[in-house]
Amino acid sequence: MKVLIHETRETATGCAAALIADRLASEPDVVLGLATGGTMEAVYADLIARHRDSGISFARAQSFNLDEYIGLSPDHPCSYWTYMRDKFFDQVDFAPGHTHLPRGDAPDPEAEAARYEAAIVAAGDIGLQLLGLGANGHIGFNEPTSSLSSLTRIKTLTRSTRAANARYFASDDDVPRLAITMGIGTIMRAQDIVLLAFGEAKAKVVAQMIEGPVTAACPASILQMHRKVTVVLDEAAASALALRDYYELVHPRVVEPAS
Ligand code: GLP
Repeated sequence: MKVLIHETRETATGCAAALIADRLASEPDVVLGLATGGTMEAVYADLIARHRDSGISFARAQSFNLDEYIGLSPDHPCSYWTYMRDKFFDQVDFAPGHTHLPRGDAPDPEAEAARYEAAIVAAGDIGLQLLGLGANGHIGFNEPTSSLSSLTRIKTLTRSTRAANARYFASDDDVPRLAITMGIGTIMRAQDIVLLAFGEAKAKVVAQMIEGPVTAACPASILQMHRKVTVVLDEAAASALALRDYYELVHPRVVEPAS
C-alpha cells in the first residue's frame, strides 16, 4: 500500500485527479471504476477543469460506478446516476453508452447485479478504481461482514450508512434500505486502486484499514491484499496512523499541488 499524506484536501484531491489524468494519457481506453460521496465531488471538479483547460479526454475511456440505490430510477434526483451526470459526465466527453451504473429500478435487482458484474468482466475488468471510504470501513456499499470475495449483488445498508447519506435526501426515511454494489472481489480484480479519505471523522477507520487486521468487520482492510493500492489522505485522516513517520519517510509529506 502506498500511503500519501497531504497537508490539505486540495493537494490530496489534485493528486488523485493527476493519477487519473496520467492513466488516461498513457491508456486512453482505460476502464475507470468510479465512486460517489462527498469526497469525490472535488475530484470530479478537478477532472472537469483538466478536461476544459488541459484537454484531457475521456472519449475512448469507459466507466463503471461502484453502486446504486435499489428503487431509484436513473432520473431520480437522489440516484447515483443523477449525481454522476450532474457532477461529472455532463461536463466531460465520455462517448454515449460508455458510462455504466447499475439500474436501481430494474424489475429483478438480482438479475441486474449479475448483468452488471458480467458487463465489468466483458469490459476486461477495471483498470483504475477510485474509492471513497465509509465511516464504518465500507467500500462501495460493502458493509461490515460482507464476504471479502463477493461479486456484484444486493446489500442491505446499515443504519449508520443511511444516516451518513441522509443529507442527499429530503428525509432520513427516504434513504433506500438496499443497494446494488460491486462486490469486494469485483473491486479487488482492478489493476490499480486509488482510495481517498479526508477529515478527522475518518481517522480511526483509516488506521483500521491500513494497520489493522484483514477482516470483514472492516471491509476496506482487504485492500492490504491488493498489489497496487494508493491511499491518498489529508493530515486529519492520517492522524491516527501508528506508522505515520514511516509513510512520510517513504513518501515525504506533499505540500505542492499535483501538476
Ligand atoms: C457512500 C458511497 C461510498 C463512499 C461513501 C463515503 O456510502 N456508496 O462509495 O465511499 O459514501 O462518502 P463520503 O465521501 O461522503 O464520506
